[in-house]
Amino acid sequence: MPFPPDAEPMQLPRSETSVLVSASLLQISVPAYSKKETQAMDRNGFLCTRRLFLRRASAAGVLGTAALFTPGIFAEELALTPRQTEGPFYPDRLPLDTDNDLLIVNDATTPAVGTVTHLNGRILNRRGEPVRNAVVEIWQVDANGIYLHSSDPREPKRDNNFQGFGRFETGSKGEYYFRTIKPIPYVPRTAGHVHFKVRVKGQEPFTTQCYVKGAPGNERDFVLNAIRDPKARESVIVDFRPMENSRIGELSARFDIVLGFTPGA
Ligand SMILES: [Fe+2]
Repeated sequence: MPFPPDAEPMQLPRSETSVLVSASLLQISVPAYSKKETQAMDRNGFLCTRRLFLRRASAAGVLGTAALFTPGIFAEELALTPRQTEGPFYPDRLPLDTDNDLLIVNDATTPAVGTVTHLNGRILNRRGEPVRNAVVEIWQVDANGIYLHSSDPREPKRDNNFQGFGRFETGSKGEYYFRTIKPIPYVPRTAGHVHFKVRVKGQEPFTTQCYVKGAPGNERDFVLNAIRDPKARESVIVDFRPMENSRIGELSARFDIVLGFTPGA
């Protein structure tokens, strides 16, 4: 099911896409929940309707907020995001639901287990310009450390309420947004991570992974530490910050991806 649940699958209207992203990015300060709103929460305590979300965003004064990206502010080229292995667990059979809300599959009423995380960022080129119409895909293990993949030996024990994979197409500001869970380690990986594949027309798909800042397994993870350059390694480790006013401990994480090409060049 897309997020919010009554949104159109994958192709959210541009305006609503940016509303969602902006509200999440700006860590909106929202009024206390009414009793009715509280009753509308799902098991994770998350409000379930777009109307409520937009109303709260509007109340917080973020609708129509100017773009977070200002063209031309980058005097120098940005450091490229390091490419990392796709790994063996890109879903070999995509789920029926491939939208940007990994917590709810189709019309299910039971959400995935895990720490709710609002994961967002921008797809940029080396000049800092947003890349529009990039298809951003993510996949990650569930709260039991299991992938949506037939080669994962523990697949039968997977949390079927976790979508495991999601897609989002960027708009004019290059923004993407997912509602998912905080990634956790699994054998043999010691660092929780989210896999990314970014598809841009006319370019080879770009794969990388992002990691949780401060996670104890980061220093031993063989994929993360295969990035030799310390600055490049740091660039894929991001803060998973508690969201202000969240009563259920939601997190927000921002991961910008800089691609090494110049569209149209
Ligand atoms: Fe992985």
